[in-house]
Amino acid sequence: MSIEDRIRSLRESLHYHDHCYYVLARPEISDAQYDGMMAELQRLEQEYPQYADPLSPTQRVGDDHDNAFTQEAHGYPMLSLGNAYSFDELRDFEGRITRILPREPVEYACELKYDGVSINLKYEGGRLVRALTRGDGEKGDDVTANVRTIRSIPLQLRGSGYPGSFEIRGEIILTNEGFAKMNREREENGEVPFANPRNAAAGTLKLQHSALVARRPLDCFLYQLAGEELPFATHVENLNAAREWGFKVPSYLTRCHSLQEVFAYIEKSELLRDSLPFNIDGIVIKVDSIRQQQLLGYTAKSPRWAIAFKFRAKQAVTRLLSVDYQVGRTGAVTPVANLEPVLLAGTVVKRASLHNADQMALLGIREGDWLRIEKGGEIIPKVVAVELERRKAGSLPMVFPERCPVCGSALVRQKGEARHFCPNDTGCPPQIKGRLVHFVSRRAMDIALAEATVEQLYGRGLLQNVADFYRLRKEQLLQLDRFADRSADNLISSIEASRQVPFERVLYALGIRYVGETVARRLAAHFRSMEALSRASREELMQVGEIGDIIADSLLSYFSDDRNRQLISDLQQAGLQMTAGETPAPRSGLLAGKIFVLSGVFTRFSREGMQQFIEENGGRCSASVSPSVHYVVGGDRMGPAKREKARQLNIPVITEDELLVMAGRP
Ligand code: IVH
Repeated sequence: MSIEDRIRSLRESLHYHDHCYYVLARPEISDAQYDGMMAELQRLEQEYPQYADPLSPTQRVGDDHDNAFTQEAHGYPMLSLGNAYSFDELRDFEGRITRILPREPVEYACELKYDGVSINLKYEGGRLVRALTRGDGEKGDDVTANVRTIRSIPLQLRGSGYPGSFEIRGEIILTNEGFAKMNREREENGEVPFANPRNAAAGTLKLQHSALVARRPLDCFLYQLAGEELPFATHVENLNAAREWGFKVPSYLTRCHSLQEVFAYIEKSELLRDSLPFNIDGIVIKVDSIRQQQLLGYTAKSPRWAIAFKFRAKQAVTRLLSVDYQVGRTGAVTPVANLEPVLLAGTVVKRASLHNADQMALLGIREGDWLRIEKGGEIIPKVVAVELERRKAGSLPMVFPERCPVCGSALVRQKGEARHFCPNDTGCPPQIKGRLVHFVSRRAMDIALAEATVEQLYGRGLLQNVADFYRLRKEQLLQLDRFADRSADNLISSIEASRQVPFERVLYALGIRYVGETVARRLAAHFRSMEALSRASREELMQVGEIGDIIADSLLSYFSDDRNRQLISDLQQAGLQMTAGETPAPRSGLLAGKIFVLSGVFTRFSREGMQQFIEENGGRCSASVSPSVHYVVGGDRMGPAKREKARQLNIPVITEDELLVMAGRP
């Protein structure tokens, strides 16, 4: 066999076994056999570079070339779908169809609505040539290099019968398991975990280096073909054919002969939803006949032949056992309902937040009530209603306590505040502990100390206030559970290092009410020292951008308290930074002179964090898109108005990864 033939045969085998493993989940050979073939192919490709091929299975590992993400037009626009939330709305959908096709029976294809990121794959001659994100529906970003690393996407199609040229659309997703694994790794590396699998998939798809993408367990489900020469007359047959060509087309695809059957499919899927290994947010219903689809056509935004049935947020009813009133580090008291455990969207729920006294009054909660709880996209469930018909006669209204449940001080509630506060900030244990934990946190003083250890130190009387961290001695640490020589040394040096943390973070670490990271940064930049800040008058404070009455009051009251003044003096003695550095030198000047507008939700940064990052690198942020703006940084769920304005003004919309690259921090 010639070298070229051997290479070809290895590639074919590896493509075949990728398909068995990643699409069919039915491996036919051992990992060792697979690795052996891969190693041989890698060696041959290295020795004989004349046979290189970007679609070789060896290329799935990606590389560290910077992705360009240039924009390209879709062959066919990528439209969105109209939504229905009830069976009645589906009857209306069918009504609109029968008005256009009065004498024809209509069959439907039903699919799950996968909750990920849409992708458009273009194949020519059976080979993957382009992968584009949805973009604005007309043009998308070229993410081919990243998509090539997704093992379940065929680089070379199998069998025959596929059109010479066509596009296929699908959803790039992370399974719940893949997501959990990825977040575990991120946490171990000290990185911020992703909020949900969709964000994680979206963030991954836009990574600069495909080698990083290759290490994340992305998957891809296909749901729509587009092309002039599709082989069959119905959607279901075409998708079944695509499955034969090597695509992952989930088996939930079902043909329904009537709307009644569609309803049954929806009911069944809703039951299935919690046991699926990936997230879905509804069902997609499509007219099955391609001819009928063409007759029905499109409205400006979406096809008339398809609709999404969106699931309502999951609800459950359970009994209220008691209400806890939790005291946070600022003294805010939050009512939390303890519930009889109930299964909701795959997890057992035992607690739900009641937010504040107003919210409790609005719901009119009484002891022993049955409550309706709901879990939307978020993790923490909320109480949406009381089941009045199940209320016991004579039950008593819940009364918000007048005294702090921990220290007994009378609670206060200022005008315009929804929350009650315990004013005993220096004597109320959860407030003291909360402040200690906040002080050491990563974005504050960044002292490597677990919450449980802080508790222990507090419990043994070694920590009363945050200045005590700087009085800790190694002998004291060695008395703690699970503390040995090495861990004690590490903690001492971590405390030592915190003496260099810049002033703005020291200010944030104090935990003054309403002084978050952004406010601390502004105050530090304006007053430049703790001394000047502590002497500032109300008028002087309010001259600082975004500082209003409430924050000014909070600062004045903090600095008027002798105990706080003493604490600051102790911290100064301990060597903490109490003045802003000489020059607030930007980390890199690479964004100098550039103005950015932020829109949407970001995966790597909080909004404030991104603003800080831009400012540290010499750039500025603006709230609205205007001709002086240089870039719009677009995140998930970016506002359509900002996108449109940017388009009109020809201002590039960049991703957060592109921003990092721009600042020299890929
Ligand atoms: S069909 C013209 N089928 O939902 C037909 N879309 O709001 C367009 N999606 O952007 C889409 N699962 O990313 C279709 N089985 C499915 C889907 C699906 C998820 C997403 C897709 C699209 C959005 C439409």
